[in-house]
Amino acid sequence: MGRATILTGLGAAVPESVLTNEMLAARMDTSDEWIVSRTGIRERRVVTPDIATGDLAVQAGAHALKSAEVDAVDAVVLATTTPDHRCPATAPSVAARLGLGRVAAYDVGAVCSGFLYGLASGSGLVSAGIADRVLVIGAEAFTTIIDPGDRTTAPIFGDGAGAVVLEAGDEARRGALVAFDLGSDGDLADLIMIPAGGSRRRVARAPGDEFMKMQGRPVFMNAVTRMVESSRNVLEKTGWPPESVDLLVGHQANVRILYAVADQLGLPHEKAFVNLDRYGNTAAASIPLALADAAQRGRLCAGDRVLLTAFGGGATWGAVALEWPRLTSY
Ligand code: ACO
Repeated sequence: MGRATILTGLGAAVPESVLTNEMLAARMDTSDEWIVSRTGIRERRVVTPDIATGDLAVQAGAHALKSAEVDAVDAVVLATTTPDHRCPATAPSVAARLGLGRVAAYDVGAVCSGFLYGLASGSGLVSAGIADRVLVIGAEAFTTIIDPGDRTTAPIFGDGAGAVVLEAGDEARRGALVAFDLGSDGDLADLIMIPAGGSRRRVARAPGDEFMKMQGRPVFMNAVTRMVESSRNVLEKTGWPPESVDLLVGHQANVRILYAVADQLGLPHEKAFVNLDRYGNTAAASIPLALADAAQRGRLCAGDRVLLTAFGGGATWGAVALEWPRLTSY
């Protein structure tokens, strides 16, 4: 048997503060009816000024380590769009705060696809023999890059974190990451972008240029197309017929996107896990947060075939297939 990467631990964390659609409607020209019917989102968790991405990452990471029943790893990979600082990366401080010592630690940036890129990166460390155990975290204080007065983005995004532990193991073991597919199209970079603050445009030219802008409609269309294509690619690699998938855990951006992806893959809507109604789009945190939620709600059983897929800024996308392990999520 070959050296495979096994998912052995899972945890999540969200800030306590809840922002409901009604609260948004009280401060901008929107309504609960519009947000629910166009996105499926009812409320989201938001960070208060004393909470940064690294704080959520530490909490989710600690939960994942507890779930895996381990207190040491060889590397920490943190997927985030909202690092604590532009320099340095946030992962080393998260590793130190978790008491993991002087391990390799770095950030991965692929916006809403970030966690799947992080999984691929962590799995690559394991399969190359560079690490035997890796903590992969997706964490965001995404609302810190959203204009609170912009009705095209403020209702969509929320904050949170999720984390998994990956370990080297036998490829026949439950929890094995069976196949990956990743892609990007840099010609679509302007669909999701913070115009100012990087080395290209150092200072804002127009008010609000320091916040994320999203062209909703083309993002929607590309998200469906690429998540379906990427999912089909991993299903082909695994040899799994689409109907054998027990749970589709897609990036939680919009319930209409999740159902469109399920429809095109020939899966009933019940197999598309949805928790965006309570958390909104938490970007790189979305998939591990959804996995932890699904596990806690009894939607994931040992041996289930699970398909993960995401689309995000870049544009980037990906899909991962795995057989669900026996674990307790925190
Ligand atoms: N409340 C009320 N009306 C609104 C709101 C709002 N919050 N936002 C927009 N509208 C209006 C618009 O002004 C427009 O009005 P008009 O017809 O008079 O011009 C109308 O509603 C339709 O606007 P659209 O933007 O076309 O609405 P759409 O149905 O496309 O929904 C949404 C917008 C929810 C953003 C959708 O396009 C979407 O989900 N896109 C994909 C997002 C996604 O997948 N993101 C993942 C990646 S994100 C990342 O990587 C960071």
